[in-house]
Amino acid sequence: IMFASVKAGELATDADYVRVITRGLKGTNMLALPLEPKEVEAVTQYVKSLSAKWTDPSAKAGTPITAAADPWTDEAAAVAKGKELVKAHCASCHATADNEGTGSDSSYGFLKAPKLDKGLALKAGDAPADIYRVIAAGLGGTAMT
Ligand code: HEC
Repeated sequence: IMFASVKAGELATDADYVRVITRGLKGTNMLALPLEPKEVEAVTQYVKSLSAKWTDPSAKAGTPITAAADPWTDEAAAVAKGKELVKAHCASCHATADNEGTGSDSSYGFLKAPKLDKGLALKAGDAPADIYRVIAAGLGGTAMT
């Protein structure tokens, strides 16, 4: 699935399905579903049963990425370094607020990388842990590794 905690391309953990089902995807038609935990687990197992990737009984979820403790104490320095890194690693796909890159379609052709600026509704959530997961794990099924 796209917003998983495992490296893009690996199979998502059950916790990834549960997170997406219970929280929904911000700014999209997929709302958080008002289901009981036991029902969320049932939906998770059903959705997995629909995927060819899970038909092999030896199929295993990938290992979730773990966030390192935040090593930055100087926020301005972190922002400056981050800007450099985004320019080097992200601007080929994402236009950014201060570097009007063109952005590009993903390899799927229809998933345009969104512009990274203040107006961006983050589907996977905007808590630091959510953003960290998106960047460190990538987005399965898109060009963002
Ligand atoms: C090869 C292309 C590509 C590269 C490189 C790339 N991305 Fe993405 N990114 C995408 C695409 C495509 C999406 C949109 C997925 C969707 O929602 O359909 C996306 C979505 C996102 C999102 C939105 C997540 C959400 O919750 O909605 C963030 C944040 C993001 N990228 C940050 C980054 C950062 C930071 C980098 C560099 C470290 C980066 N991306 C590199 C293609 C790319």
